[in-house]
Amino acid sequence: KIAVLDFGGQFNQVLARRIRELGVYSEMLPYSVTADELQKQNFKGIIISGGPMSVNQSDAYAVDAGIFDLGLPILGIDYGMHLIAHHFGGTVKEHDGKHLGEVTLSLTEESGSLFRGLDKISQVWMSHSDCVTHAPENFLVTASSETYPVSAFENSHAQVYGVQFHPEVKQTDNGLELLKNFVFDTCQATGNWSMKHFIENQVKEIRQTVGDKKVLLGLSGGVDSSVVAVLLNKAIGDQLTCIFVDHGLLRKDEGDQVMESLVGKFGLNIIRVDAKNRFLSKLKGVSDPETKRKIIGNEFIEVFNDEASKLEHVDFLSQGTIYSDVIESGTETAQTIKSHHNVGGLPEDMTFELIEPLKTLFKDEVRKLGIELAMPESLVWRQPFPGPGLGIRVLGEITEEKLAIVRESDAVLRDEIKKAGLDRDIWQYFTVLPGIRSVGVKSDARTYDYTVGIRAITSVDGMTADFARIPWDVLQKISVRIVNEVPHVNRIVYDITSKPPATVEWE
Ligand code: XMP
Repeated sequence: KIAVLDFGGQFNQVLARRIRELGVYSEMLPYSVTADELQKQNFKGIIISGGPMSVNQSDAYAVDAGIFDLGLPILGIDYGMHLIAHHFGGTVKEHDGKHLGEVTLSLTEESGSLFRGLDKISQVWMSHSDCVTHAPENFLVTASSETYPVSAFENSHAQVYGVQFHPEVKQTDNGLELLKNFVFDTCQATGNWSMKHFIENQVKEIRQTVGDKKVLLGLSGGVDSSVVAVLLNKAIGDQLTCIFVDHGLLRKDEGDQVMESLVGKFGLNIIRVDAKNRFLSKLKGVSDPETKRKIIGNEFIEVFNDEASKLEHVDFLSQGTIYSDVIESGTETAQTIKSHHNVGGLPEDMTFELIEPLKTLFKDEVRKLGIELAMPESLVWRQPFPGPGLGIRVLGEITEEKLAIVRESDAVLRDEIKKAGLDRDIWQYFTVLPGIRSVGVKSDARTYDYTVGIRAITSVDGMTADFARIPWDVLQKISVRIVNEVPHVNRIVYDITSKPPATVEWE
């Protein structure tokens, strides 16, 4: 496996991904990881990634200098290259800043092993306003460009390499080839990492950690927690207990489907808590969105705790933390934030050790894992669904009647989107009930009924979004079906705002 040291660059995740795509496991570690820790973990090579800082800043992040004595191949990319230059006595300066983006790269006579077999002239992507102006002693300059005389260097004896540009982005020609040269030729890594291996390793590791003890898992029905559940079940079977809090704010038949696919197919040990009345009574009369969220969140923890405290001898708590959760706020601190957040509500006398088997996987890898574990596609490809569920899609006060309208109209929408073959293209799609009533006409009689809003967005991560361009005829079918099939609805509107300025959810 290959270590990617994270200095906060915008492409670092992509870099880790690219290497995994080559079939070599790569792991992103905080920049502050020590040489000792790296040595213990059997890495074949280290990549020091890019980052926004300047090595000339007095508070610049540095690597543990000990990593240069580990005898492992090291590749520095942008800021990583500057750190190498700095460490070995080269010079790093700010350039005029005009030549960021695509730049023409020429290999030098020596060209070096990193560029073996690559084109002499190619386009590469530069994104840092510092560059190396003098390579350290004993380093060969292997590529250059107009603004960046030292675009790449290497000391093949010490197996230390640096590139100013980003091989991991699409804009760089031959970037993947360069990474291949480093990973396979220099690091001698083998490209046999696959989901199958991942499962085998995890099962072994989980068995070793857990022994004959018991594990508790909070199951939400979402992709991540369901995949963890099935993975743990494979490893330790009955030693796992899942608690599935059904707050009554799930989509149509969702609770049953989760039970059917996980209990029915995999024999998981799941306690389903029907807490609908508890939630609805707490929410009665409340219309402020933030208060609703808080009530739902707190009640969730209380119900979970009530159930958990009925169990005896639970030593481990597992959760479906994935890579993006861990690195969202940087590899340094995020892990504790997330764990703390999710376990935060448990009584203090209940102490658990945490098991987070997915914490090194990206979302699409979690999906691949689910498929490899033979989980149904409906679970593996489930669209994102917020914790407070339909509770934030009934705007204002929640009543059973309003919940039913959202639930039924949402079911129609999902059915038609699936029939139209759009379910994988649209990132998230659902209906909302704004609480507006308007005048309509049905069977020659006046109606005064609810308006249902359709929200459908395309997005990569939910942070920004655009409204989905659902074809008119599909929208028409959805509209006709909802007004015909869902009582008390006489008008349908389509939300055509992007995020920002709107959010995905209406509350
Ligand atoms: P917004 O509405 O903030 O939504 O643009 C972005 C994404 O996050 C989901 N979302 C939530 N997920 N708890 C969650 O687990 C929440 O309270 C919550 N609020 C929004 C939303 O569905 C969308 O995918």
